[in-house]
Amino acid sequence: MKRHLISAADLSRDDALLILDTADELAKISDRSIKKLPTLRGRTVVNLFFEDSTRTRISFEAAAKRLSADVINFSAKGSSVSKGESLKDTALTLEAMGADAVVIRHSASGAPHRLAGWVRGSVVNAGDGTHEHPTQALLDAFTMRRRLGPLDGRRVTIVGDVLHSRVARSNVLLLSTLGAEVTLVAPPTLLPVNVGSWPCEVSYDLDAMLPKSDVVMMLRVQRERMNAAFFPTEREYSRRYGLDRDRVARMHDDAIVMHPGPMNRGMEIAAEVADSPRSTIVEQVANGVTTRMAVLYLLLGGADLGGEIRQ
Ligand code: CP
Repeated sequence: MKRHLISAADLSRDDALLILDTADELAKISDRSIKKLPTLRGRTVVNLFFEDSTRTRISFEAAAKRLSADVINFSAKGSSVSKGESLKDTALTLEAMGADAVVIRHSASGAPHRLAGWVRGSVVNAGDGTHEHPTQALLDAFTMRRRLGPLDGRRVTIVGDVLHSRVARSNVLLLSTLGAEVTLVAPPTLLPVNVGSWPCEVSYDLDAMLPKSDVVMMLRVQRERMNAAFFPTEREYSRRYGLDRDRVARMHDDAIVMHPGPMNRGMEIAAEVADSPRSTIVEQVANGVTTRMAVLYLLLGGADLGGEIRQ
């Protein structure tokens, strides 16, 4: 594996399978009363969040703590960033504290790549602008594999605001590496101009895709990133691209519904669908901890896992 995890494209098929297999091993300790392993004792993980997060920030913290790493949580709000301190100076300050890994979320696409040039430790991209969110794609693949088995030939339909979604880009890259067939469904206004070069198909017809899909992944409509009118009304968007009970009835019996969160209930996904047995949304959050444990363990070269899990 490379030293950093900036993009899902950094992962070969063997790398991705190693992370998912390691997460499978680590999931075994999640059922124990004591969930902690000593494998990263003495290592320091810095969580550097310049943008809001609930799931990713908490799960990276839980993952590092379950591996016995020391954790420093940095939030831009309330820090010297508000006095104008740059990303580079912030990074060098954290470097001086001995970070072995820096987990970064930033509103600027490319910030993790820049950071990787300034620090000695491993950099993990926890979401950069509209670019990538590779550990979300890993936890999504882990969730799909647990529900459906190997991903080769599985048909995954990703629906909604692809234009502003770092989750969609990372999922397309990772799922194609793992042999899945991905189709993006969105209004033309919410597709990136270069989507033709992505390793996936594109459709504008959600109803036609539903019976063919093993996975339907709904994306959040990211109104906070929209500086123009991308669709006529929210009601019209829901009518064309929202997942409701009637649409779910067109999916095959074993197909699953995913959403990375946070959700706009009632817009891209109906509440009754989000809370239904087909939905893996809560599982995705739990799987985020084990998948991020696997990433930190492999990047930081933790002690032998087999021995520790058997103890
Ligand atoms: N899925 C995801 O990245 O959620 P958060 O923004 O809450 O971390």
